[in-house]
Amino acid sequence: MAAVELTGVSKHWGRTAAVDQVSFKAQAGHLVALLGPSGCGKSTTLRLIAGLETADAGTITIADRRVTHLPPSARGVSMVFQSYALFPHLSVAENIMFGLKVRHVARKEREARLKRAAEILGLQQLLDRKPSQLSGGQQQRVALGRAIVAETPVCLMDEPLSNLDAQLRLEMRREIRALQRRLGITMLYVTHDQVEAMTMADQVVLMRNGVVEQDAPPAELYERPATIFAARFVGTPPMNVLPAALVAAAYPKAMASAPPGRKAADLAIGIRPEDVRLASEGFPGAVVALEYLGADTLIESRIDGDTFVIRVPGKVSANPGDIVHMVWDPNRTHWFELSSGNRVE
Ligand SMILES: Nc1ncnc2c1ncn2[C@@H]1O[C@H](COP(=O)(O)OP(=O)(O)OP(=O)(O)O)[C@@H](O)[C@H]1O
Ligand SMILES: [Mg+2]
Repeated sequence: MAAVELTGVSKHWGRTAAVDQVSFKAQAGHLVALLGPSGCGKSTTLRLIAGLETADAGTITIADRRVTHLPPSARGVSMVFQSYALFPHLSVAENIMFGLKVRHVARKEREARLKRAAEILGLQQLLDRKPSQLSGGQQQRVALGRAIVAETPVCLMDEPLSNLDAQLRLEMRREIRALQRRLGITMLYVTHDQVEAMTMADQVVLMRNGVVEQDAPPAELYERPATIFAARFVGTPPMNVLPAALVAAAYPKAMASAPPGRKAADLAIGIRPEDVRLASEGFPGAVVALEYLGADTLIESRIDGDTFVIRVPGKVSANPGDIVHMVWDPNRTHWFELSSGNRVE
């Protein structure tokens, strides 16, 4: 069963479409990440689902109920905003429990939920403070707490970890994911961080300029990106994408897996940095920079003005200016149509 379904949903600001014919389904109990660069329409999509914005076109259903024109309170969702929007005059505990009070949840139940949420979020010592007495990361956790105690079947989160330091972010990621699984919540989770999306989500909806670029599980997004944009957005460092003709001229073997009936001139070839090895002969690149990371080394080289980055295990002894030769398994390459950027099988 789809807990949330969008069909052809659009939202315009003036003449520009912030969200343009967006369709996707979130299965019940899944965590779906809405991923994409700043301004691509993630928050607007989430706010449309919550009912904080009204769609110009399309339909939204939540738990098989058409909610497109219902007010937020009738949609049965909780939401964590990108800006935390806490009540300044209420304590942390009161902020977290505010929604429960409004909905007349019994006192004992309210306190049990508060206790659970405070433990998960590490807020036990801060329950009596006012938001102004908290750091940004602590405020963000209070905002998370409000959504957690609601225990609604559908929870919408807009970049809920953006203000936390790296360590806390990692911990909270796991906590949120564990909680979501344990309670069987359907979660729509907005982030511009591909690592967060890849590590947390069952399904990733990658957006670009208001449009869904690809909708797939993390492994498929990585292994079979639908477009050059998707290929380069997921994975660090990004996939190398070069005109196939350029690669073919220097390393004809690369064409072994080229899609049949296509001219090299019309294609781009994609190869992930981690799929490339150094060899005594192969695709030649002039080393520009080396980055030693401990477990492996990133080598950035240049070929005719195009950049090519590879990741090789351990420490590599090469210097800027050296020519290195690189090889890869042709079965690990990705092919795209140069003109459209679309994947070619
Ligand atoms: N109230 C508004 N009035 C006019 N334009 C808006 C409004 N809200 C959003 N936009 C525009 O709609 C587009 C999508 O905005 P949105 O907030 O959904 O992006 P986002 O993907 O959440 O970005 P970010 O990662 O920066 O939060 C942007 O171009 C933005 O400037
Ligand atoms: Mg946003």
